Amino acid sequence: MPSLNIRLATEADRNAIWEIFHDVVTPGDTYAFDPKMSREEALAYWFRADTHTYVVELDCLKQSSFQPGYRRVVGTYILRANQTGGGAHVANAAFMVAASARGEGVGRAMGEHCLNEARRLGFRAMQFNFVVSTNESAVRLWQQLGFKVVGTLPGAFRHPAKGYVDVYVMFRSL
Ligand SMILES: CC(C)(COP(=O)(O)OP(=O)(O)OC[C@H]1O[C@@H](n2cnc3c(N)ncnc32)[C@H](O)[C@@H]1OP(=O)(O)O)[C@@H](O)C(=O)NCCC(=O)NCCS
Repeated sequence: MPSLNIRLATEADRNAIWEIFHDVVTPGDTYAFDPKMSREEALAYWFRADTHTYVVELDCLKQSSFQPGYRRVVGTYILRANQTGGGAHVANAAFMVAASARGEGVGRAMGEHCLNEARRLGFRAMQFNFVVSTNESAVRLWQQLGFKVVGTLPGAFRHPAKGYVDVYVMFRSL
């Protein structure tokens, strides 16, 4: 059973993060990022000064307790304040799992880790501003982690295949 390790990202993770980011954003079906966003723009956004950036490593090839395993970055998330000033006690986060590693619990592990980190950093609630309603795996995971849909933005996302679809604002207190 491969083990997951979640830690703060470093400069050395930039290539792995860009690969995941690029694969997630290019289809244009989950995030309102420009699918043609450059590596520099993407990494500047993901490593913004006000942002805590994390990666998930999968311990892939651990053969025995004497042999260190090869670790592959399979996911990344960011955590930051959703607003400044009077709104700074509410966190915001974004999550990306490599396509090859989805459906294996990486997203759930990041979500749980993120909630704990947000509590540790003193946030009182977490808000997702733009969850595309057709992104079933994300909506279901966030609901399982205690988030509620508190608002629906009608037709706020232009899905490449489904056209204009609703977007959810999701929220939970911590
Ligand atoms: C959304 C995302 C982060 C989920 O990560 P993941 O590692 O695939 O999810 P997990 O394996 O941890 O699964 C957790 C839960 O997600 C839901 N889920 C995962 N894959 C699913 C699928 N194919 N269909 C429906 N629900 C699914 C389930 O509720 C699952 O829990 P369960 O297995 O107990 O039913 C990941 O798919 C991803 O990076 N997608 C692209 C980027 C994105 O959409 N980010 C979120 C934007 S709001």
